[in-house]
Amino acid sequence: MKTVDPMHLRSSVVTIDSAKLAKNWNLTKSLLPTTSRILPMVKANAYGHGDILIANVVSKLGAVGVGVADLGEAVSLRDRSFKGEILCMGPLSGECVEFGIDQDVILNIRSLEELKIMQDLQSRTSRPFRFHIKIDSGMNRWGFRSNEWEKAANEINKLSCGIPEGIYTHLCESNNPDQTFTKEQIKRFSHAVTIFEKILKKRLIRHCANSGGILHHPESHFDWVRPGVAMYGYPTLNGKELDYKPILKWKAQLFQVQQIEPGDTVGYNRTFRASRKMTLGVVGVGYGDGYQRGYASANIDYRGHHLKIVGIICMDALMVDLTNVPKPMVGEEVTLIGSESDSPTAWDLAHLTQTIPYEVLTRIQSRVPRVLQ
Ligand SMILES: Cc1ncc(COP(=O)(O)O)c(C=O)c1O
Repeated sequence: MKTVDPMHLRSSVVTIDSAKLAKNWNLTKSLLPTTSRILPMVKANAYGHGDILIANVVSKLGAVGVGVADLGEAVSLRDRSFKGEILCMGPLSGECVEFGIDQDVILNIRSLEELKIMQDLQSRTSRPFRFHIKIDSGMNRWGFRSNEWEKAANEINKLSCGIPEGIYTHLCESNNPDQTFTKEQIKRFSHAVTIFEKILKKRLIRHCANSGGILHHPESHFDWVRPGVAMYGYPTLNGKELDYKPILKWKAQLFQVQQIEPGDTVGYNRTFRASRKMTLGVVGVGYGDGYQRGYASANIDYRGHHLKIVGIICMDALMVDLTNVPKPMVGEEVTLIGSESDSPTAWDLAHLTQTIPYEVLTRIQSRVPRVLQ
């Protein structure tokens, strides 16, 4: 089949720098004991980077598997021929569970209710399934709470087809300079591990650390670590003191260039009125791609010029002021999110909308192609 440059199908495209991903990977590895293995999180389309693309690259780098948020994400990776291990950290419900088992996904059990689903499953099938046990060590979201640990371990012992392979928890403030609560979470988790391993009479794969745990809490490293945002190059509040580099670039095409006169208005609701003669560019990206209306005061890079957005961001396009750019050319690229030091970053956009890079990146819509470079 003929291949088509994604830029010809859509006017904005995300490119992923595989060399920078490998650098972030090596940096992560250098922080870990040689016995710890890495299970990168590729949920939410790999934080907007493209799940299958990232899953394939990290597998080659040596990932023990990838983590996803639910069976939908797991099955979608299998549908696109991902052969590596997938740990599904999301909810279990009746038929979905069998679907996950069919696809050789490692499940997780997070509550006595989910344990019951597994027990019921055994009356319908004798197929073995693998799972990890989720411990609530203080986030109060999901996982067995301390008063359930013994009961859960005893019930798990009775599962004839279920194979408990691992045990894990999630840290809720691993980037906080005050490390007190994280240390407490790690202590509680270690206690849970002792109870489960004693009752199950087996050594489980233990994991706890997200990016913040990897960077700031060596005692959280255990057997596996689960980095998300660090892999993608946005590890801490500003990340500047670390050598992690953003791996994603988001570019869009200049669709059109035109002159407008003083008094002309631009875009929906005519919120911008020109006070002078201006050169206006139309860029092929909008909130339908995840470039939100709240980014209206962001800079957009074009040949080293920081362009201002003019008027309201539309669904598929936005307008920029090109007045000071010599000879702008239709078809050239602008940078919405870059990975060089002077280009706009996901942090810049996050600050404009009072959020974090995680949200900016995961909002890049699936209609924007992801390309590995
Ligand atoms: C269970 C679990 N582990 C690991 C991660 C990765 O976190 P981070 O992106 O902060 O490294 C997440 C992200 O939310 C998560 O939910």
